[in-house]
Amino acid sequence: MNFIRYPGGKQRLLNYIIPLLPSREQIKGRFIEPFVGSGAVFFALNPKCALLADINPELIDLYRGIRHSPSKVWEIYKSFPKTKKAYYEIRAIKVNRKDLAFKAARTLYLNRTCFKGMWRHNSNGEFNVGYGGQDRRWVISLETLKEVSNRLKHVVLKCSDCEQTINESKEGDFIFADPPYRPGERELFNSHYIYGKFCFSGYQRLAEALKKASNRNVKWMLTISSHPDILSIFYGYKIVPIPKGTGRKLGILTNNSGEVIVFNYNMEEI
Ligand SMILES: C[S@@+](CC[C@H](N)C(=O)[O-])C[C@H]1O[C@@H](n2cnc3c(N)ncnc32)[C@H](O)[C@@H]1O
Repeated sequence: MNFIRYPGGKQRLLNYIIPLLPSREQIKGRFIEPFVGSGAVFFALNPKCALLADINPELIDLYRGIRHSPSKVWEIYKSFPKTKKAYYEIRAIKVNRKDLAFKAARTLYLNRTCFKGMWRHNSNGEFNVGYGGQDRRWVISLETLKEVSNRLKHVVLKCSDCEQTINESKEGDFIFADPPYRPGERELFNSHYIYGKFCFSGYQRLAEALKKASNRNVKWMLTISSHPDILSIFYGYKIVPIPKGTGRKLGILTNNSGEVIVFNYNMEEI
């Protein structure tokens, strides 16, 4: 269910991630994603009950708009013209916070027609990615949006910081956390995630919140860069490297680091 393009999306790593996760039947509480992005893992796992959160308000409004009115979002999306000039006009529109369907359609349109699906904003919080073309626009359909809407029916959607989301977890819940990569590696985070300037202190906060979740018997999985500074924060948990060369692109461009999966449980215990 790849309905948006997303920097750092986990679609290409699902073959490594899914076998290490509990199944939807094994998750007794909620499946929680504090950094949901395009929700690649959520859509692949299809949990019975979920809490999806991200710090990006446009992203959460996109999910809310599609959940509430997929057909209306599709009609507006379809009506946007296909020229480069129109792209810049639609990008310049100031959206009314209450007009959820229009906001969702505009975000979807910008995501599917901007350059490489980037999600970058200027200092005023205005989306400022250039035009990328129409090639990726019609690979989704009304059926795609209806399916997304159905999958979100019993999901709690929140625009919030990861720490707050993780602190809400209780025994029986399962957390899948996929924070932005460390700056200097594959995703130059400043240009991809205006809402998530995730520095080293962000990883420290994340590790602390996950440690407290472990103390409450919450099981969790984290995907992360294997940079030694970051790995040192998660020392003591189970760590599985993701082979380099996985998928079309490597997770990280620097030669001395790759991506790893970190988790706090034994598969037999689940
Ligand atoms: C690597 S992406 C997640 C990709 C997602 N797993 C997928 O498959 O598409 C990281 C996400 O974290 C979000 N983010 C950054 N800082 C955050 C924070 N402090 N709290 C919550 N979300 C944050 C970004 O907006 C972005 O959507």
